[in-house]
Amino acid sequence: PAPGWAIAADVVVVGSGVAGLTAALRCEAAGLRTVVVTKARLDDGSTRWAQGGIAAALGEGDTPEQHLDDTLVAGAGLCDEEAVRTLVTEGPDAVRRLIATGAHFDESTEGGLALTREGGHHRRRIAHAGGDATGAEISRALVEAVRARGMRTIENALVLDLLTDAGGRTAGVTLHVMGEGQHDGVGAVHAPAVVLATGGMGQVFSATTNPSVSTGDGVALALRAGAEVSDLEFVQFHPTVLFLGPDAEGQQPLVSEAVRGEGAHLVDADGVRFMLGQHELAELAPRDIVAKGIMRRMQERGTEHMYLDARHFGAAMWEHRFPTILAACRAHGIDPVTQPIPVAPAAHYASGGVRTDAHGRTTVAGLYACGEVACTGVHGANRLASNSLLEGLVYAERIAADIAASHAADTLPAPAPAPLPQPAHPAHPLLPPEARLTVQRIMTGGAGVLRSADSLARAADQLHHLHTEAREALYENGKTSEPGVDTWEATNLLCVARVLVAAAQRREETRGCHWREDHADRDDTTWRRHIVVRLNPDRT
Ligand code: SIN
Repeated sequence: PAPGWAIAADVVVVGSGVAGLTAALRCEAAGLRTVVVTKARLDDGSTRWAQGGIAAALGEGDTPEQHLDDTLVAGAGLCDEEAVRTLVTEGPDAVRRLIATGAHFDESTEGGLALTREGGHHRRRIAHAGGDATGAEISRALVEAVRARGMRTIENALVLDLLTDAGGRTAGVTLHVMGEGQHDGVGAVHAPAVVLATGGMGQVFSATTNPSVSTGDGVALALRAGAEVSDLEFVQFHPTVLFLGPDAEGQQPLVSEAVRGEGAHLVDADGVRFMLGQHELAELAPRDIVAKGIMRRMQERGTEHMYLDARHFGAAMWEHRFPTILAACRAHGIDPVTQPIPVAPAAHYASGGVRTDAHGRTTVAGLYACGEVACTGVHGANRLASNSLLEGLVYAERIAADIAASHAADTLPAPAPAPLPQPAHPAHPLLPPEARLTVQRIMTGGAGVLRSADSLARAADQLHHLHTEAREALYENGKTSEPGVDTWEATNLLCVARVLVAAAQRREETRGCHWREDHADRDDTTWRRHIVVRLNPDRT
């Protein structure tokens, strides 16, 4: 489709979570003409669902070095130590700047920040807001700051593809916008710098803590643009997600690690604490270990879930400290004050993503990635709890600084926009919207918490079949005239699912959150390395 409208800017930020809005605010403060585009409303996306909090060495006696150690252990040998060092040393000040922007965090009775613990942390270093509504408060503060500054934003704007100039440099993005007045339909924002902050891809699985908008759009765009993507096999499954039945699909309610951080126990149906003896931190072991512990016990017992028991908190603590989780449980007929909570692991976080350097630059000039969509190297094979909001903050600030510096030095003429993308390209045929469910079921069946060569091969075949069907439909029917958001989301999900499965097939070991039943051990001789993928744009 021809673009109905076009605008120009110095930088376009795609996405409006903590990473996107922080990058946008800092770019604007540096005097750059900044446009924020976001798929739904400004406060949709994963940030607002974050419960536990944001990790940083802010407490007495804690140091960035200790935070670094915990992050490296969780990352199971694949973190980029320098990237982690940047995260943990710049983190405390980045949190203070977030507070200065207007976010209110819970305070202790002594007056400082109230800090809790989560899995893998040897110290209390997780700042939280509204008890268990940290992301909602961060989102509120950042959205208000963006609005207060009158920044240019376009909502309901699904990003389609990257525009590049003749030299392959970033020249902007194309968008499909629904119902936003002057910017309606397909259009383009031309800009020499694009920041992808589109969040994760949890919707590639049937049950996930991620909202419905988390469909891997940024990773798919980057792959189509020829950027490198790394570590996609490391999907983190959160151990404690409210169990709503074996067939539950879509976004599921999270039961924060902070509940365990405050002393809740994981028990089986007989009330036995099965994490004791499995790790020195028991229920507060890194997330992959707890998820595996739960899955093993479920297999041994032939059950579909375990329980999180926090009845000993009492009603007052539940109401004050975990109001969001209390309400979600009660809405589903469970009262955590009097009943153990049924929980099971569900897809939660993409530890991998679009590969970047220490300044958030991808391998395509002018294209940056930040937050869950990015792979900066800080998470390795398994992200440490509550490092994600921090990563979004720290690396967004670094990206803004880099764009501002390169903009000041930029003497090149404005890049000429390339032709619009061809969504009906045979390498990336558009899927019908209903294929979303098929992709999710294939991935949950073959590439979930437990993987094997057989299950992954089956998933790869089924995904390939979907792709082939879509290509054939393309040849039969020609180009789809006006593909909607659902069509693009299904297409993006298939694109990231295929790369994820291929990476998981290749990694013949168990490491971090990648658990191969047929390769049960970690293999440092062969696999202490990353799987980096770059698609050949013309190959199917
Ligand atoms: C949680 O509150 O358990 C989630 C924290 C995280 O994913 O980092």
